[in-house]
Amino acid sequence: EIPSLAETFAGYFPIGAAIEPSQTEGLKAELLKKHVNWLVAENVMKPEAIQPMEGSFNWTNADRLVAFAKENGMEVRFHTLVWHSQVGAWFFKDAEGKPMVDETDEAKREANKKLLLKRLDTHVRTIVERYKNDIHSWDVVNEVIEPADPDGMRASEWYKITGTDFIETAFRAAREAGGPEVKLYINDYGTDNPAKRDRLYELVKEMLDKGVPIDGVGHQTHIDVYGPTVDSIVGSMEKFAELGLDNLVTELDMSLYAWNDRRDLGNDIPDDLLQKQADRYRELFEAFRANKDMIGGVVFWGIADDHTWLNSFPVTRTNAPFLFDKQLHAKPAFWAVVDPA
Ligand code: XIL
Repeated sequence: EIPSLAETFAGYFPIGAAIEPSQTEGLKAELLKKHVNWLVAENVMKPEAIQPMEGSFNWTNADRLVAFAKENGMEVRFHTLVWHSQVGAWFFKDAEGKPMVDETDEAKREANKKLLLKRLDTHVRTIVERYKNDIHSWDVVNEVIEPADPDGMRASEWYKITGTDFIETAFRAAREAGGPEVKLYINDYGTDNPAKRDRLYELVKEMLDKGVPIDGVGHQTHIDVYGPTVDSIVGSMEKFAELGLDNLVTELDMSLYAWNDRRDLGNDIPDDLLQKQADRYRELFEAFRANKDMIGGVVFWGIADDHTWLNSFPVTRTNAPFLFDKQLHAKPAFWAVVDPA
């Protein structure tokens, strides 16, 4: 009988995992019940899943996750109210079905912006009203920063049509619908990268100064065995903690491949690579423990190597980013995290 992750980290921070509703059954469910405090929907709470067509909300899968969590004394994080990906194309079309981004007439552009913000407001309020008592914390917007794009803001349809107003609208609507208790996060990847971190900081500061209700920053933390440094990850959290914000690790996984590497190791992963992964997981969790006061929780983007988006991103291949292997057995990384000495 191996130790429980949740119990191991009880004095530090909650542990979470992202899952699909199908994983609420069988051996996977048992693994989750033993090791995690929080669940996140890997896909079924994204905009296109919840509101695939205007006015038609699909709660079935999201409800299933919430029910499983309740039955087992777990809490749920919501991912995500707003994103440029996995969002219905209908959001960004005008009444004639024309893409809003193509509009050149100034008055019509203004009308489109109003319409999009109204749709967003409805989307956010409808969801938050339904789940406000069931959700521990909310990813309100996801991946809005892109240092390579104009103004350092991702040139998404949201941004092209509304500027940063969609961010403000989403947070304000969530607060109004959810009340003072709901905890609202801005989530992004690569927040260790100084350009990304600083632009995110600037945006958050500007929003806070305007009274936009942001409670914390979600750091996705999709890392690999080679980088980025643990210091850069924790260093970024320090900056946001100084603004009085909470930090969450929201989507942790550790690829076996360096970012530019497109090879496929297949199923024979060398032992020394698994050991390297364990050593880096050890260093990471030691830093998390040491900084527990500024970290509200650590969520993995999965739980065991049998199910990970990294098997299809950025190319199709075998990856093994978690603490448990495909058979749901503890890997060297599990022991490194649980028993770092
Ligand atoms: C990924 C899911 O894991 C995949 O199943 C899906 O096909 C694409 O999205 N950043 C995020 C997550 O914020 O929503 C993404 O999840 C992974 C990257």
